[in-house]
Amino acid sequence: MKETAKIILDGKTYELPVIIGSEGEKAVDIRKFKQETGCITYDPGFGSTGSCKSSITFMDGEKGILRYRGIPIEQLAEKSTFVETAYLLINGALPNSHELNQIRVHLNDYSMVHEDMQDFFKNYPRASHPMGILSAMVNALRSFYPELLTTEETLSATFLRLLSKVRTLAAMSYKISRGHKVIYPRQNYTYCANFLNMMFDSPVRHYEINEDLVRALNIFWILHADHEQNCSTAAVRVVGSGQVNIYAAISAGIAALWGPLHGGANQAVIHMLENITTNGGDVNWAINKAKDRNDPFRLMGFGHRVYKTYDPRAKIMKKMCDVVLSNLTKADPLLDIARKLEEAALKDDYCVDHNLYPNVDFYSGIVLRAMGIPTTMFPVMFAIGRLPGWISQWKESIDDPDWRLSRPRQVYTGPTKIDYIPLEKRK
Ligand code: ACO
Repeated sequence: MKETAKIILDGKTYELPVIIGSEGEKAVDIRKFKQETGCITYDPGFGSTGSCKSSITFMDGEKGILRYRGIPIEQLAEKSTFVETAYLLINGALPNSHELNQIRVHLNDYSMVHEDMQDFFKNYPRASHPMGILSAMVNALRSFYPELLTTEETLSATFLRLLSKVRTLAAMSYKISRGHKVIYPRQNYTYCANFLNMMFDSPVRHYEINEDLVRALNIFWILHADHEQNCSTAAVRVVGSGQVNIYAAISAGIAALWGPLHGGANQAVIHMLENITTNGGDVNWAINKAKDRNDPFRLMGFGHRVYKTYDPRAKIMKKMCDVVLSNLTKADPLLDIARKLEEAALKDDYCVDHNLYPNVDFYSGIVLRAMGIPTTMFPVMFAIGRLPGWISQWKESIDDPDWRLSRPRQVYTGPTKIDYIPLEKRK
C-alpha cells in the first residue's frame, strides 16, 4: 500500500501522497493542496520544500555525503578531471575515451569569443567586480550565438560552448577589470591549464604552467560542480521555468551566486581572516562577534542549510591547502589563523549547538590565493566550477514532465481594502 500523509484542516482530513526517493528520503506531495483546501503552505527560504525530482546529485546533510550521479565526491576529486565530471553531470554517465577526446576537441573549438564582445566590455568601468562583468557577458552570449536549441546536437554544442567560453570570459573579465591585454585561449593546453594561462600570461611575462596547480584547479572545480537545489541553481531553474534562453538562466545563476551568503562567501572568508589578523590574531574575537545577537557579523565559511556536520568538500579542500602550499614551498599566515579558528569553533558551545562546521568556502580562498587568483575573482572561480551543475539542472528541468512555471504564493499581511485619497486631502 502506498504511504500517505494526513492533514486536518478546519476539522476535515486530507490525505496526501508521499513520494520516496531512491535513497529513501520522503516528500509529501502537496501539488493539489491549494486546489483541494484553498490553503497554501508557508516555508520562507524553502528549507522544507522540494521543488523538483532530480537524479543528478545526492546529499545527506546529517552524514556529510555528497555524490554526483551516484559517485562519491571523494572518488571524483581523487580520480577524475573537471571536464570528465562536467560530462558526467550533464550526460548522466562517465564518458568513454572516444567521447572524452571528442569533448576536448570541441572545448578547444569553442574556446574563442567574438572580438566584438571584447570591445563591448572594454568600456566597462575599471572598478567593476568581475562577477558583474561575467554575468552580463554570459547574458550577452545569446546575442552573439543566437542558434535555437531544437536538436540534441545543438543542445550539446550550446553546453560545450558555454563551458568553454565561460572560462575564456572569466579570464577576460579579470584582464578587462585591470585594464590589461586579454590573453587568448591556446589549443595545446588542457581546460584548467588554459584558464591559468589566460589569467596570468602577459605580453611582458611568460606564465609557466605548474602541473600541481593544474591538478589543484581540477579538484577545486570538481568540488564546486553541483550541489543540488542551492540558491543559484534554484535561480537557474526558476528563471529557466519562464522559458528564457539558457544564457539568461545561467546569467541569473551567476548573479545569485555573487552574494556573501552563497558563492561570495569565499571572498568574505579572506576578509574575515585578514580582520582577525589585524585584531592581533585572536580568533575568539570573531567567535564572540558571531555569538553577539546585536552584531550582524557571521563566521564566514561556517554553517550550511543542509550539512549539519563537516561539509565533505571542506575536508578535501583543507587537505588541498597543505598539498598546494607545500608544493609551492610557500606559507600563508592566513592558513594558521583559519586552522585556529576552526579548532576554536569546533569546541565552542554556540557553534556546536548551531552546527557551525566549516563549509567548502572556508579553505577554498587559501587554495585560490596560493594559485595567485585575486580575491575579487573567487566567486568567479566558483561560478566556472558550478556551470556543469547549472547546465545539467536546467536540462533536467526542461525535460521534466512535472515542470511548471515557478510561481510561489504568499501570505498577505498588508492593509485590507482602503479608498484612494486625492492629493489635496492627504495630510
Ligand atoms: N555564524 C554565526 N551564526 C550562524 C552562522 C554563521 N556562519 N550560520 C548560521 N548561524 C546561526 C544564525 O544566527 C541562527 O541563529 P539563531 O537560530 O540562534 O537565531 C542559526 O544559526 C540559523 O541560521 P540561518 O541563517 O537560519 O541558517 P541557514 O541554514 O539559513 O544558514 C547559511 C545557512 C546562510 C550558509 C549560514 O550558515 C551562513 O550565513 N553562513 C556564513 C556564510 C557562508 O559561509 N556561506 C556559504 C555557504 S556554502 C555555499 O553556498 C557554497
